[in-house]
Amino acid sequence: MKKITYKFSSASTDYYFDASFSALGRLVNKKQSILIVDEKVFFHHAAKLKGWNIIVIKSGEQHKNQDTVNDIIQNLVQLEADRKTVLVGVGGGVVTDITGYVASIYMRGLTFGFVPTTLLAMVDASIGGKNGIDLGLYKNMVGTIRQPSFLLYDYSLLKSLPESEWINGFAEIIKHACINDAAMFKILKQNDLSSIRYSKKTLGELIERNAKLKTKIVQQDEFEKGNRKLLNFGHTLGHALENMYDLSHGQAVAIGMAYASVLSEKLNGFHESSRVIELIEQYGLPANLEFEKDEVMDVMKMDKKRERKEIHYVLLEKIGKAVVKPVTLRQLEQFIQQ
Ligand SMILES: NC(=O)c1ccc[n+]([C@@H]2O[C@H](COP(=O)([O-])OP(=O)(O)OC[C@H]3O[C@@H](n4cnc5c(N)ncnc54)[C@H](O)[C@@H]3O)[C@@H](O)[C@H]2O)c1
Ligand SMILES: [Zn+2]
Repeated sequence: MKKITYKFSSASTDYYFDASFSALGRLVNKKQSILIVDEKVFFHHAAKLKGWNIIVIKSGEQHKNQDTVNDIIQNLVQLEADRKTVLVGVGGGVVTDITGYVASIYMRGLTFGFVPTTLLAMVDASIGGKNGIDLGLYKNMVGTIRQPSFLLYDYSLLKSLPESEWINGFAEIIKHACINDAAMFKILKQNDLSSIRYSKKTLGELIERNAKLKTKIVQQDEFEKGNRKLLNFGHTLGHALENMYDLSHGQAVAIGMAYASVLSEKLNGFHESSRVIELIEQYGLPANLEFEKDEVMDVMKMDKKRERKEIHYVLLEKIGKAVVKPVTLRQLEQFIQQ
């Protein structure tokens, strides 16, 4: 187990890389802690969870909402949770988002930590302190920014993760490589999903590298005034597609990254969109989709990142370097319609 502490503006987070779930008992007081897990994680890892206070929630994005928050709060009251209680979200991004949110509002705030159990949660969702829930189709509409006090990484929890969720996680890893880490782009190129998944060493190194990369970006800009926006690479179009079509988040983001790379060639002097597209496909992700262009434009116009007649779009300058540039709705329309 390797402990590294990262400081944020008003808190610090202890990251325990290469750890075992059983170490949790040393990080928190078992009696004063309550774990929040979803039903699938509970099913696969029930043996490890024995002896802990647990609230089980339904699995899936459709349950990342106020109803589930209310259920959890009811349970906390029943379990007599007080200000000394520590909440631990053990799960994917849905569980970590909702746990961080409940911990921020219950009794005006409890201490909380995460044990991420999906690749996506390990490299992305559990990091950075954004916690929240959806309101119908509006993703992450309600939430807080508050850092967890710890993150515990037990890579062996990923053994039960279905292939489709591995692929999802790789979309964010490819995103990180594109915006900030040309050397990792090469490592990804030289490997594939199974060579990474089944090598404990490669997997551990890759997860740690991605967790640190996202952490650095968040540290520089916790409240998303500048560079944190780079993490939205592929997400503007991606979110619109995800809402309208039956795509996973990773698939939608992959298509969004492919389009953003081509747009970067048109507007930002980028030359390597074919390399980005190849890497996306190498990891089982789609780089293209026939979509209803007018409708997708309409949804993108509603995007949170829009300011008046422009959208702040993340474009690549080269592999490993991204910039945020205003793109007018007209430019975007022309690009999408061609
Ligand atoms: N807060 C942030 O900065 C941030 C960043 C990125 C994503 N997110 C959020 O994260 C969520 C997506 O995260 P996700 O992809 O982890 O989704 P998820 O939590 O829904 O997990 C995906 C699926 O895997 C299952 N699962 C989880 N761990 C498992 C395991 N070890 N074995 C078997 N099955 C397991 C879950 O039950 C679920 O069915 C979205 O709600 C997104 O908005 C948040
Ligand atoms: Zn994402």
